[in-house]
Amino acid sequence: MTIVRTAAAAAEVARAFAALKVERDRVESRTMREMFAADPSRFSRLSLEVDGLLLDYSKNRLDAQTLVALLGLARAAEVESHRDSMFACERINVTENRAVLHVALRAPKDATFMLDGVNVVDEVQSVLEAMTDFAEGIRSGAIAGTGGAFTDVVNIGIGGSDLGPAMVTRALSPYHDGPRLHFVSNVDGAHIHDTIAGLNPATTLFLVASKTFTTIETMTNAATARRWIVDALGEAAVGAHFAAMSTALDKVAAFGIDVKRAFGFWDWVGGRYSVWSAIGLPVMIAIGAKDFRSFLAGGHAMDVHFRDTPLDRNLPVILGLVGIWNRNVLGFPAKAVLPYDQRLLRFAAYLQQLDMESNGKRVTLDGSAVTQQTGPLVWGEPGTNGQHAFYQLLHQGTDVIPADFLVAATPHEADDVHHHLLLANCFAQTEALMRGRTTDEARAELAAEGKAPAEVERLAPHKTFPGNRPTNTILYRLLDPFTLGRLIALYEHTVFVQGAIWGIDSFDQWGVELGKQLATQLLPMVEGKTSPDTRDASTAGLIRAVPRIRG
Ligand code: F6P
Repeated sequence: MTIVRTAAAAAEVARAFAALKVERDRVESRTMREMFAADPSRFSRLSLEVDGLLLDYSKNRLDAQTLVALLGLARAAEVESHRDSMFACERINVTENRAVLHVALRAPKDATFMLDGVNVVDEVQSVLEAMTDFAEGIRSGAIAGTGGAFTDVVNIGIGGSDLGPAMVTRALSPYHDGPRLHFVSNVDGAHIHDTIAGLNPATTLFLVASKTFTTIETMTNAATARRWIVDALGEAAVGAHFAAMSTALDKVAAFGIDVKRAFGFWDWVGGRYSVWSAIGLPVMIAIGAKDFRSFLAGGHAMDVHFRDTPLDRNLPVILGLVGIWNRNVLGFPAKAVLPYDQRLLRFAAYLQQLDMESNGKRVTLDGSAVTQQTGPLVWGEPGTNGQHAFYQLLHQGTDVIPADFLVAATPHEADDVHHHLLLANCFAQTEALMRGRTTDEARAELAAEGKAPAEVERLAPHKTFPGNRPTNTILYRLLDPFTLGRLIALYEHTVFVQGAIWGIDSFDQWGVELGKQLATQLLPMVEGKTSPDTRDASTAGLIRAVPRIRG
């Protein structure tokens, strides 16, 4: 299909958005509280349960009629044919002229994804087998460091070469029975310094993870790690203590890493979609190849659901459309991600890259300005910690921040006391955000506490909650590898749906380039080798201030 939208198709999309604005005026005449009171079947109408994964989107400012209008938008934007183009290996990343095939990374062995006459699944499986041999060798001790079996593995990477494996490793800690894992990403020397302090070089393995193998942060940290190994163990030890994951295997070899320890992937894997590829090697070392395969299978299960399910029962489509409603029709600029699952500590950071690097775009595929706001600001922290930090703003602040709540029905821990409290808190928050508390209710509560009438009036405005604040709740059985794979793929496809509706390239990231280029130009000035006079007064002033303030 033609990926770039024709004028006629753009007009269809504009009409669908116009219909949604009319829909907004209808829906906004009632609060969610009123809508729940009027429709006892609201939860069953506005929730979807697929194989033990429940999406409750009933606590949004919409109803079944709104959903029909949203599905009309998805059809006008040809979401289904965009999706089919991705699965058909078309080059939908038009600015880089690349196919987008992270779905092939988690496809079964007998699947077919033909790109330029090659079934990429065969290549994927062959790398997975090589990763398995290496990971299991590390885990068993058959592949060891100069001082014996590896006790610690340090992944050096940034962005997609860090966030995915770091988030997944933490999320799957109950399955972690391999060596200790550490992640170094920041070029701030503090990161690698603090990470290797206390490690034994003779039993430490470094994984250098970089799609391009040029990223300055990763190359700088890798060089520091290399020096640390050489200083402690000698040049000859480098081979035993390094491995790499990259699409640029020639550059890996130039760094001095043995080709047998280099695990490749391909330009059709976006960095933020790469945890399923060789970039997932640290995860495989931590949890083993069998559980890693289960993680891939979970991603694949969501792919099949996304590919084959009608739009109105399709989890990523519904989640994506609700996001469009909140962002474009109701005009909310941000979205909070609030896992009630401590092991999803890094989930919001991971989603920040997935969503904001994918959909933080301002032109459509043909280079013209977008006609709608695109990706929201994504942020969050696990509950219940967030409740005691920023939820005040969610409940009573002047901005409305839609939020996704995620929680497991089953904990890994036997102790239900904690989990019942966790669930109660999670559901209480979405209820409070939806219902709020009217001023009359606040007054009644204060009076029941025995407050004097004047005190009741003084405090009531402070105790009033506007409510009507949108949330989704995603309830899953247990945070196991399969479920985590499904959850990540759910969000990947949600981002895809939204990018298709906005008509943007969700798979490039030109916006991170300018800062990188300027950093390269500024480095000799910071080093004192050239004058900063050519820069603006602020930048030059800051560069000059460093030696003065350094003292
Ligand atoms: O931040 C830009 C970016 O290109 C990301 O998309 C990518 O995940 C990250 O840098 C790291 O890139 P690489 O894996 O090539 O080192």
